[in-house]
Amino acid sequence: MSNNNENVAEVASKPKKIKRIGVLTSGGDSPGMNAAVRAVARTAIYYGIECVGIRRGWNGLINSDFMILNGDAVRHILARGGTILYTARSDEFMTVEGRKKAVATCKMLGLEGIVAIGGDGTFKGALELSRLGIPTVGVPATIDNDVGCTNYTIGFDTACNTAITCIDKLRDTMQSHERCSVVEVMGRHAGYLALYVGLAVGATAVLIPERELDFERDIVVPIQNARLAGATHFMIVVAEGAGSAIEIGEKIHEALGIGPRVTVLGHIQRGGSPTGRDRETATRMGYYAVKAFADGHPNCIIGTQEGSIKEIPIEEALAMKKHLQMYRYEILEAISATGSGH
Ligand code: F6P
Repeated sequence: MSNNNENVAEVASKPKKIKRIGVLTSGGDSPGMNAAVRAVARTAIYYGIECVGIRRGWNGLINSDFMILNGDAVRHILARGGTILYTARSDEFMTVEGRKKAVATCKMLGLEGIVAIGGDGTFKGALELSRLGIPTVGVPATIDNDVGCTNYTIGFDTACNTAITCIDKLRDTMQSHERCSVVEVMGRHAGYLALYVGLAVGATAVLIPERELDFERDIVVPIQNARLAGATHFMIVVAEGAGSAIEIGEKIHEALGIGPRVTVLGHIQRGGSPTGRDRETATRMGYYAVKAFADGHPNCIIGTQEGSIKEIPIEEALAMKKHLQMYRYEILEAISATGSGH
């Protein structure tokens, strides 16, 4: 039996029992968001915490737009793309008035914490809310993989695989017609998606925002080298942040006299059933998000670093910068310069 002093210490170290939390998805959707919502709801039930789904991102907190997330509500969503909670980018939440309304909704619904699933924009909102006394935890989900505090964001793998599948199909017809294909992929201001996809499809060249474009060096020479090595079709992958595929196509036409076919993959990259990696990561991150509340240390982002889950305080997380590993670009240059196709 413990003495009185030990009892006092035990009580002091025990986190306050949380009764109810909310969960929302915000910003651009990504495959695996539903898997994260499911993990949050199920883990909450496991810890005896009620879980409320806030719909349409931060707007849902402002407008009191919610649904109860019991076990039934999250049944059969693990493999579904999109988000059952809907998502939005909220201008109103950027205002003091908007955030006051959000706090009022949290009080009205008895929400003692919010799990916010999204990217950096979402986490800026989470930081503001935590400063107003509502504890928050962020779960990184964006196809761009551009969140500084984490190696990986939910949805990246699925988006890469979707782009790869599309480009493989394009390659079939480019090969038959001996053409040049210029494909624009998403990624906002980052080149992760483009570079990863470029390596996986054996691109002739990849343009990324992290490397200033030198048209001769980055496109003309790789196409010429590939041609000299025997290639009769060429695949150029352009990150949307590096420029417009249409303009790149026109410049290729001017410089080399060939007529490239341009494809902008667009929002197709945001849809589809999440891959195993995205389901598994979303499930782990969702679990740890609720655990952070249950253990009494919210106001963090659940990131992965070298494969392990890490909790990073939100403010610190937002200040962290991620640098694209340029050695991947060097690998692409080495391999595409020395062969005649994928
Ligand atoms: O951040 C995800 C993303 O898909 C980016 O890759 C892209 O630039 C942007 O969202 C597109 O946003 P919207 O859905 O508003 O067109």
